[in-house]
Amino acid sequence: MKKTLLSGVAPTGNLTIGNYIGALKNWKEMQRQYDCLFMVVDMHAITIHQDPSSLRSRCLSFVSQYLALGIEPKESTIFIQSHVSAHAELAWILNCFTYMGELNRMTQFKNKTKKYSSNINAGLYVYPVLMAADILLYQTDIVPIGDDQRQHLELTRDIAVRFNNLYGKVFQIPEPYISKVGARIMSLLDPKSKMDKSDHNFNNYIALLDEPSVVLKKIRQAITDSGTEIKVDKSKLGISNLLTVYSCLSGMPIPKLEEQFKGKNYTAFKKELAELIIEILRPIQNKYKKLMDNKDYISTILKQGAKKAGERADRILKKVQERIGFI
Ligand code: TYM
Repeated sequence: MKKTLLSGVAPTGNLTIGNYIGALKNWKEMQRQYDCLFMVVDMHAITIHQDPSSLRSRCLSFVSQYLALGIEPKESTIFIQSHVSAHAELAWILNCFTYMGELNRMTQFKNKTKKYSSNINAGLYVYPVLMAADILLYQTDIVPIGDDQRQHLELTRDIAVRFNNLYGKVFQIPEPYISKVGARIMSLLDPKSKMDKSDHNFNNYIALLDEPSVVLKKIRQAITDSGTEIKVDKSKLGISNLLTVYSCLSGMPIPKLEEQFKGKNYTAFKKELAELIIEILRPIQNKYKKLMDNKDYISTILKQGAKKAGERADRILKKVQERIGFI
């Protein structure tokens, strides 16, 4: 029997090469080896106010991008989180097994309260518990994520162990899968900050759907550092980030790239990097356009996904309800 892999993306902003390198690329590479579930987590998205029609179209767009990236609906279960009501039900139960002290420590919550100071809602606070429910509902073994989700996964494990200690083994304890290189791709104009798909300044990221001319312009504008050497160095955050992107997309180790670009200037390096990104994105974008013309196909996949995921989730939810004494 294959082990279970689960992951998801919140439908906010635009999918970026950060999401691709940190998570989605690994989904594609791992999907044959594991029994996979991939979600678009719309319930997470509403912790920040969303325009309903944009949320609807973004959910469809993200699913189409999953498919265009090579996620196979015949092999993997693809679904929208809100289509499986067990996520909300388990999240409530797990809220009762999570301490406020634990949630207060969550770095993402602290960052988001600064960014969205006019809307610090309770959903934003218990967001990591919903994420724990997403994972624990499917007896997940492995969760491929970027580095920014590491703390949420540790909390998921703590909640699962706590519950199992009280009620006997119910939950599988999940392991994170975080790449050694590329787990935190940085912003193009501010390489001290993470590349963020909801960034208001589009020039901070390359979106998977960016046109070639836009990719070229954004990479040309990306912050590099004083000096001329193309190498990874703590004092050269901009060029280190671009080298990491190059390495993850080309599969070439960083020392080899440093060797290859020895003596070349930043402009030449950036031109090659932009061309590489454009070549990787081209087939994805072509496939995406075809998929978006076939909404019926997407909706069939989502119906099947919700049914498959729902049946699995309900089995675990029932077990949890029985163990805690719901009649
Ligand atoms: P989200 O939507 O912010 O990001 C989706 C995935 O992309 C990774 N990522 C990055 N990786 C490298 N560099 C970056 N700059 C970068 N930015 C984002 C994220 O780590 C993530 O893997 N809470 C989650 C979604 C979620 C989830 C889950 C994930 C909800 N339930 C259950 C796994 C399992 C989130 O907001 O990711």
